[in-house]
Amino acid sequence: MKHSTKVGIIGAGPAGLTLALLLQRKGIDCIILENRSRQYVESRVRAGLLEQNTVDLIRELGASERLDKEGLEHHGVYLSFNGVRHRVPFKELTGGRCITIYGQQEVVKDLIQANLDRGIEIVFEAHAKHIEGIETESPSIFYQHNGEEHELTCDFVAGCDGYHGIGRQHLPKETYNEFRIEYPFSWLGILANVAPSSDELIYAYHERGFALHSLRSETVSRLYIQVENDDTVDNWPDEKIWEELSIRLGAEGWSLQSGPIFEKSITPMRSFMIDNMQYGRLFLAGDAAHIVPPTGGKGLNLAVADIRFLASALTNWYDNQDDSLLQSYSQDCLRRIWRAQDFSNFMTYLFHKQAAHGSFENLLQKSKFDYISLSKAQATTIAENYVGLKEI
Ligand code: FAD
Ligand code: DHB
Repeated sequence: MKHSTKVGIIGAGPAGLTLALLLQRKGIDCIILENRSRQYVESRVRAGLLEQNTVDLIRELGASERLDKEGLEHHGVYLSFNGVRHRVPFKELTGGRCITIYGQQEVVKDLIQANLDRGIEIVFEAHAKHIEGIETESPSIFYQHNGEEHELTCDFVAGCDGYHGIGRQHLPKETYNEFRIEYPFSWLGILANVAPSSDELIYAYHERGFALHSLRSETVSRLYIQVENDDTVDNWPDEKIWEELSIRLGAEGWSLQSGPIFEKSITPMRSFMIDNMQYGRLFLAGDAAHIVPPTGGKGLNLAVADIRFLASALTNWYDNQDDSLLQSYSQDCLRRIWRAQDFSNFMTYLFHKQAAHGSFENLLQKSKFDYISLSKAQATTIAENYVGLKEI
């Protein structure tokens, strides 16, 4: 079966859904093809930390009714090193900016609803197989849906299909350099029905490994611990998780409340980059082009930041027949992506156990941590990267 639209979007994650809403607002037709079912993408547990820029964009798109009610603003963060805690205040260091905690699956639910309310077509369980003609003015996406073969012809293809998608496979290899770090540890993440034990997030280095205390609401806590790469959730009964979290997050006069765990999963950690995100009529955005390790909560925010550039570039092309923003798309995105890569890598090395206690590397970690409490300049560097730079 043959179909056509102006912009064919592969992937209904934060990137694809935001792009469709921005295009629709400018009267540019698009169709989203999503591999998974609606139920699956709406319940996939991942990120939770939204930068101010991301919240502002969701507001601008008129999809923030629930986010405004249920999102939890945070004006500081606790950083802890072997039980010594230091608070980095965002308000005074960043001129009043903050972060908001609101689960990615809630963002995805709200964006899907907003897309459907505005008549944007999302084809769920549509598996994009390959793309043809990206060097022509009418590329096509070939996909399978309900056991049938389909072809979607469009003016542009947006590869918003995540790290394992097909978009990146269609960029000619000679057009980019690839960079990759696989870290020698993973995160075990849990969701638990228990009130958060802290008013702010806590990132903790401990000689037994990293731990992060986050939350989803006044009654649901989200926590993570560093585990080995070959570890499995079966090795982590609930009691052992709470015990380990208590030790790693521990500080004098503070205790961690435990409760029933209802979700457990292990995520590998990697940094991944390509330094070109476009070729002909194919443009990549979000995890399709870059992965940051989760320490610092940048992935979803970067995906949305790419989309701001892509939507402006496509709008400029349709409104003014001007391709200058399309030409500069990768370069415009890369400045922010490299900044986030550096910050996520810095936070990862600062808080994870990689070297023996008392080793040279470990003592450097400790010195970096001490410097945050000693120097307002260093605390400001952390704060402005954490809440997300406004200017780039
Ligand atoms: P995705 O969300 O991966 O969406 C891509 C979509 O494309 C998927 O729905 C997929 O099913 C679909 N797709 C793939 N292949 C095809 C195909 N062939 N045909 C059709 N559809 C296809 N980020 C933050 O900003 N803050 C955080 O606090 C944070 N914490 C995290 C914690 C964890 C444990 C993890 C795993 C990630 C975290 N991230 C965080 C990262 C964040 O979740 C991702 O960066 C974000 O999902 C990227 O959005 P995206 O739209 O680019 O890709
Ligand atoms: C969360 C995840 C992160 O990676 C992070 O740095 C902060 C918060 C979260 O899921 O809440």
